[in-house]
Amino acid sequence: MYVYHFLSSEAKQNHRLPPSPPSLPIIGHLHHIGPLIHQSLHNLSTRYGPLIHLRLGSGSAATIIVSTPDLAQDFLKPNDLNFSYRKYTLAINHITYGAGFSFAPYGPYWKFIKKLSTTEFLGVRNLGRFLDVRTRETRELVAKLTVKAERKESVNMTEELLKLTNNVVSQMMMSIRCSGANNEADEARDIVRNVTKIFGEFNVADFIWFCKKVDLQGFKKRYEEIRRRYDVLLEKIIVEREEMRRKREAKQKGKDGKGKDLLDLLLDVLEDEKAEIKITRNHIKATILDFFVAGTDTTAITLEWTLAELINNPKVLQKARNEIDTVVGNKRLVEESDAPNLPYIQAIIKESLRLHPPIPLLIRKSNETVTVKGYDIPAGSMLYVNIWSIGRNPQYWDNPLEFNPDRFLEDGSSTLDVKGQSFQLLPFGTGRRSCPGVNLAIREAHVLVAMLIQCFEWNVKDGQVLNMDEQGGLTVPRAVDLVCFPSLRPNTPHIFT
Ligand code: HEM
Repeated sequence: MYVYHFLSSEAKQNHRLPPSPPSLPIIGHLHHIGPLIHQSLHNLSTRYGPLIHLRLGSGSAATIIVSTPDLAQDFLKPNDLNFSYRKYTLAINHITYGAGFSFAPYGPYWKFIKKLSTTEFLGVRNLGRFLDVRTRETRELVAKLTVKAERKESVNMTEELLKLTNNVVSQMMMSIRCSGANNEADEARDIVRNVTKIFGEFNVADFIWFCKKVDLQGFKKRYEEIRRRYDVLLEKIIVEREEMRRKREAKQKGKDGKGKDLLDLLLDVLEDEKAEIKITRNHIKATILDFFVAGTDTTAITLEWTLAELINNPKVLQKARNEIDTVVGNKRLVEESDAPNLPYIQAIIKESLRLHPPIPLLIRKSNETVTVKGYDIPAGSMLYVNIWSIGRNPQYWDNPLEFNPDRFLEDGSSTLDVKGQSFQLLPFGTGRRSCPGVNLAIREAHVLVAMLIQCFEWNVKDGQVLNMDEQGGLTVPRAVDLVCFPSLRPNTPHIFT
């Protein structure tokens, strides 16, 4: 039976596909893929060329790997619509109730949530409305770090930054803080990290048809447990909100439409019989999970890599300090509105996103057969654009492994943007499926990094150089948590007045 399956799937492949490394029967190229998938793909591309195709498992669709800006543009610009679909795995399907937004196929449901998120939830007006939440959270972190500094205690910045981004997004989505002396906070953070980890791993059952029923790696058990824990957490929050809405409705009928978070926006759609899209409770849970996963870990990872690079590059840190001292001074704390006047801080964030894109691979799926660069790419093929590899390619970047923000201030590079127009730098993706949270992420990153630089000196145990190893998953955090000893800079602005 397997022989038939193998031959029939191969027989269907009359397409002229890009070149491919040697493969093995049944597993195809799976043996080339290690836990850090983006690095394995980078190594394959270095050896076999910037455009290759792989077969990951038996009978699976072709996976096209693209590793240069020009090729990324060839695939994603003229063919944006065709590649606006995503990979769907057993874990993604189960954890997102088969009803999420980030992995939804391009279609009416995706378009509806995209519009809701870009015009309302993450729109400029709403970002303005939540400025006080972001300010409060950043100041709270500075206050906490101040106490640690005075006591000469260490701080796990990986944990603190994730708490902060969780708090910002959960207040924008559900008007609740994830931090505090409650178990829900730890539970939410733990779920997010587990979800990004399992979404980014290769489950053999997704690729080898006869493994579908056997849980060889214990994957099924893990993703079922994650969904169960998430469901308990979200069900409680939704029930509480429904109760609140009933009370609110009784009190102020007709005063709707003001000050809504994402949960309210979605419950409005759920309850509206005339809504253009019918959604279920599972859609709500899945969408909230999507934004949680997509919007908290990613921003926290950018912040922790940036701080780690600054610690390892004292000259860059000093230059950033000089900029902040000149532009903002020490009479007040830096604010979001200072960002346009801090070009070096902006360059630091770009440089961090170049070397450490939190999502290292743009993963898309094609809907129709198309020809790109003379190759036929069949419908249903997976496309992996390795933005991690593009950011480290010496053909496009001088001394790519050096953390040098000045490269973004030089003529010719100063216009490189991160919002999907420069194919050399795509940390937020490009086109229809690009990140809807880019404006929020950039605002948070600029002000927070500037504030950490403005207020503190950063030291690590025994003055060591930080280890910059990565951990695998859909996102790429540091392999080891970033633990630092902050100390207050002389004349730090007083934040409690
Ligand atoms: C530094 C922070 C962030 C980075 C680097 C980042 C990066 C990305 C990337 C690379 C994608 C895939 C784009 C593509 O396929 O072309 C994406 C998608 C997405 N991001 Fe972000 N993101 C960040 C922050 C956020 C925030 C703050 C939110 C929301 C609160 C968010 C929500 C999403 C969602 C919902 C998607 C899926 C969009 C879709 O499939 O249509 N992200 N992000």
